[in-house]
Amino acid sequence: MPSKKRLLPVAGSPRVSHDAWGGRVPSYIGRRLPAVVVVVWCAVSARGWLPDSYSLPTGVLLKDGQQFDYIVVGAGAGGAPAAARLALAGADVLLVEAGGDPPILSKIPSAAMSLLGSDIDWQYKTIPNNVSCLSSQGQQCRFSRGKCLGGSTSINYMLYTRGNRHDFRDIPAPGWTWDHLQPYFLRSEGLQNLELLPESSKPFHNTTGPMRIEFFDDPENPWQSRLKKSFKSLGFPENLDVNADSQIGVSQVIGYVYKGERMSTARGYLSKRSVSVTLKVAKNTLCTGVIIDRNNIARGVTVIQGLRKLRVYARREVVLSAGAIGTPHLLMLSGIGPAEHLRSMGITVKVDSPGVGADMNDHTLPLLLALVDKTTGVNDDWIQLVSRLQYFPELIIKRSGPLTSNGITDITTFVNSRCYDFQQRRLLNVSFDGSSCELPDLQIIHAYIFKNIVPLTRPLFQRAIGFNDDVVNQISRANERYAIMVITPILLEPYSRGYIRLASSDPRVPPAIFPNYLGEDRDVQTLLRAISIIEQLVETKPFRTRNAGLLHLELAGCPRVEQDRRGYWECYTRHMTFSVYHAAGTSALGRVLDARLRVRGVRRLRVADLGALPRAPRGNTAAVSMAIGERAAEFILEDNK
Ligand SMILES: Cc1cc2nc3c(=O)[nH]c(=O)nc-3n(C[C@H](O)[C@H](O)[C@H](O)COP(=O)(O)OP(=O)(O)OC[C@H]3O[C@@H](n4cnc5c(N)ncnc54)[C@H](O)[C@@H]3O)c2cc1C
Ligand SMILES: *[C@@H]1O[C@H](CO)[C@@H](O)[C@H](O)[C@H]1NC(C)=O
Ligand SMILES: *[C@@H]1O[C@H](CO)[C@@H](O)[C@H](O)[C@H]1NC(C)=O
Ligand SMILES: *[C@@H]1O[C@H](CO)[C@@H](O)[C@H](O)[C@H]1NC(C)=O
Repeated sequence: MPSKKRLLPVAGSPRVSHDAWGGRVPSYIGRRLPAVVVVVWCAVSARGWLPDSYSLPTGVLLKDGQQFDYIVVGAGAGGAPAAARLALAGADVLLVEAGGDPPILSKIPSAAMSLLGSDIDWQYKTIPNNVSCLSSQGQQCRFSRGKCLGGSTSINYMLYTRGNRHDFRDIPAPGWTWDHLQPYFLRSEGLQNLELLPESSKPFHNTTGPMRIEFFDDPENPWQSRLKKSFKSLGFPENLDVNADSQIGVSQVIGYVYKGERMSTARGYLSKRSVSVTLKVAKNTLCTGVIIDRNNIARGVTVIQGLRKLRVYARREVVLSAGAIGTPHLLMLSGIGPAEHLRSMGITVKVDSPGVGADMNDHTLPLLLALVDKTTGVNDDWIQLVSRLQYFPELIIKRSGPLTSNGITDITTFVNSRCYDFQQRRLLNVSFDGSSCELPDLQIIHAYIFKNIVPLTRPLFQRAIGFNDDVVNQISRANERYAIMVITPILLEPYSRGYIRLASSDPRVPPAIFPNYLGEDRDVQTLLRAISIIEQLVETKPFRTRNAGLLHLELAGCPRVEQDRRGYWECYTRHMTFSVYHAAGTSALGRVLDARLRVRGVRRLRVADLGALPRAPRGNTAAVSMAIGERAAEFILEDNK
């Protein structure tokens, strides 16, 4: 298995490395200065500073009436590549971003969870549908979105999986099959570890794109290999590259990390010096709408920068990359959306476009927790805690060690649950119902929570996951005695559909998000199959010999698991619902957009973000958002020759 060995420079020797775009980054690397460094760590982290390995563009102050060739709204997975490519082509580009620079914690992979609910998260909450999110505070699932340069790529879990080629089969617009899209996926990829992948993987990768990526550092957690062993004992193949021919099996996946730090699109695309020559970035600037003239031509955008409300203009085009929530929000505020809804909000209708905000689909999971590694001695805890302090110097000096890994989250398993035989306890490889076993309906993901972490970081934990006090108490109590392994199935082909509507015509008020998780019973049935697989996983040897077992939370209104196993897990699924933050479909190709990502009914206005895809692909979604951003820039440059 790929296990990355770092070449450590000799103590004290200056190292000059090259950043993703060829800039020179000198850094002075030492080897071991443990005690001193812990102190230094505390000092630098107090100042919110990790020695800079790259620099982001400085922000600009906008003038009312200012003009640019292009205005791109949103510096996330779609927007950063779109803006960077236009700037590289020599255009005068304004990138408008509601947030500022990502903070230091965003650089540290192991700190990902602490970013949820923080001030670089839009902190949306969903509207209850009474059949999901029942154990969340107010029965509202948390709905995180990045609000800073890099957008959600600055707060996400950094897994690099692109989905299945069949996901692009039914897009109702010409030119959007996998074969059409693959070049754009490759354009962004700067894979550093190609030599660790099988030879057959080569055609599926690029090593020179701006998003430099690698395997996460070894988390030094024995459960990483135990998990693989467990899945293999149930007949799951070990898959060395989920981004090649087959997704199926248990894998250690590549991460959006480079030299121990997160690789966001802010770092990959916006920190290039040649980009910042022509790119102007307006940070902490909220776009409040698109300026559309009487002939339905997009002329620019309205923004709020600080206390100033401004109008800025695009000579050529406006591109909305505000994400699957932000973009339909802005379209509706600008009079593009379902006419009746807009009128009820007092907004003048420019284009009656019923697809705007409609057909929202997202991946969800029930948070499943296994209790592992029970310890009894208080001493053990102290030894563990003290030994973990060395991770900080490792991070700062060597940019390696467990803090640069994302725990064991890089172990992920794709499977079609219909191809799993519960009697034989084995994954089969047969065609079923015409749906091939090569088409996964589940992605199982993992995380490891060290003993006592939840009690110690309780407010942070609750802020990140948003469950109610009762559930957090139960998890916290269990974590006082056990480490917790999250083993949880993501529903990859959800049937439930939701929508986004305006809650107010004031652009500062968040839109109403109604994902309608588990609204279709079929979705729960798939998750019940998934839970049964995980129950069998926890009965495999690596778990059994360590007395590990699933945590059976006591949930109000649910039967006890001993009385009604199926009823319990169904109820559990509806209580412990969690978004995977892959929402798509809210300004979709074929409905709202034409095949060149142009908004129907308006000229000079495009969308370049995940909302443009009718369905989220079977996997994680940052890669496809970037591919859309890359492609949008190409369309724009072609159409504006
Ligand atoms: C917690 C979490 C974990 C995830 N884990 C993974 C993972 O492991 N792997 C993976 O591939 N994907 C993951 N994803 C999903 C992935 O990050 C997103 O699908 C992807 O970033 C979406 O790209 P986007 O361009 O559509 O939107 P975003 O990346 O969210 O970018 C939208 C940008 O627009 C800005 N914006 C919005 N409205 C306005 C406005 N009115 N004015 C100005 N700016 C505005 C936002 O601040 C943001 O910067 C995760 C997402 C989250 C939230
Ligand atoms: C959920 O239940 C409440 C209270 O019974 C009701 O007012 C609301 O309309 C229901 N929501 C949905 C989406 O069914
Ligand atoms: C790899 O990425 C670079 C930079 O984006 C691009 O020029 C090149 O064409 C890509 N290579 C492949 C094989 O796609
Ligand atoms: C299933 O069988 C097909 C065809 O024989 C093969 O290509 C594929 O790799 C197999 N998949 C798994 C998960 O074993």
